[in-house]
Amino acid sequence: MEDIIRVENLQKKFLDFTAVRDLNFPIHRGEIFGFLGPNGAGKTTTINMLTGMAKVTSGKIFYKNEDVTHKMKKAQKLIGIVPDESNLYPEMSAFDNLCFCGSLYGLTKKIREQRAKELLKTFQLWDVANKKFHAYSKGMKRKLTIAAALIHQPEVLFLDEPTTGIDVGSMRQIRSLIKDLNQQGVTIFLTTHYIEEAERLCDRIAFINRGNIVNIDTMNGLLENTKNFSTIEIKFFTSDFDRKSLLKKFRQSFSELQCTFEDLQTLRIISINSIDIAPVVCYLSNEKMLIAEAKLIKPSLEDVFVKMTGIEIDLMKKEKEKK
Ligand SMILES: Nc1ncnc2c1ncn2[C@@H]1O[C@H](COP(=O)(O)OP(=O)(O)O)[C@@H](O)[C@H]1O
Ligand SMILES: [Mg+2]
Repeated sequence: MEDIIRVENLQKKFLDFTAVRDLNFPIHRGEIFGFLGPNGAGKTTTINMLTGMAKVTSGKIFYKNEDVTHKMKKAQKLIGIVPDESNLYPEMSAFDNLCFCGSLYGLTKKIREQRAKELLKTFQLWDVANKKFHAYSKGMKRKLTIAAALIHQPEVLFLDEPTTGIDVGSMRQIRSLIKDLNQQGVTIFLTTHYIEEAERLCDRIAFINRGNIVNIDTMNGLLENTKNFSTIEIKFFTSDFDRKSLLKKFRQSFSELQCTFEDLQTLRIISINSIDIAPVVCYLSNEKMLIAEAKLIKPSLEDVFVKMTGIEIDLMKKEKEKK
């Protein structure tokens, strides 16, 4: 498969703080490649370097085998960028915003109006094409921001947390639009801190934490790791207990197991070997925990992620809520 983009030892420092270090990866033409990691991991910094919005501290960026590290302008015609915060004009209508973006890429009036119309239809915004951008809902704003990034028919689309902070309906629509675009041949690079989003959309995933890539693999390759994993979910009768202290005590008694709370009353336990469920249940009932249900479940990408990064899922969820 052709590498449309490749980075070598890419690094970004802010003064003496290294935000991302030693990034080495290709982006294959036609794939959906995802950067998955918590807040502050270095996702936006990476996108900014790859799209020429931030200066590279060291390392190289290749677009189609040409070193463009210091001439990102050259690559910009190839790419579309959907930043985490929209870059469109609040006082302009949706239609005018798209046409304006088209003019930045040198499209003629006729072509940009035609593209704007097409895109508004695809994104189901044609009915509200004349509304001002600021009057749009968050989900509509995100959709229009994606449409704007596509005005010049880029080969690669960069999306920085495309579904963060929007309603569930728009989230679904955007995920399906991303899939459609990819099927039409657009290569996609996206960042996310939603594990299930990475799992659903991406062909390949890089786990990133504190500026380091912990692992890069195909979805199938990552799930291969779970073949021998055992995951147990234990649901308690109530959520009225001290989760922190239970986790602490549990980890002392079962140091080989990874455990995290899936929700307020569900404990998730992951082991890289097969585990015996009985001692776990015994231990918890000795701790006076009333168990409503205990079951072995099929391991997921979430389990691989927890195992490889050591990041607790409840932490990723907290990051989510902060936004
Ligand atoms: N302009 C900046 N100046 C100083 N530090 C920055 C700047 N931008 C980002 N950082 C730091 O770099 C790290 C990575 O940030 P970022 O790439 O935004 O993470 P993510 O997008 O994964 O949440 C964070 O610790 C952040 O505080
Ligand atoms: Mg970010």
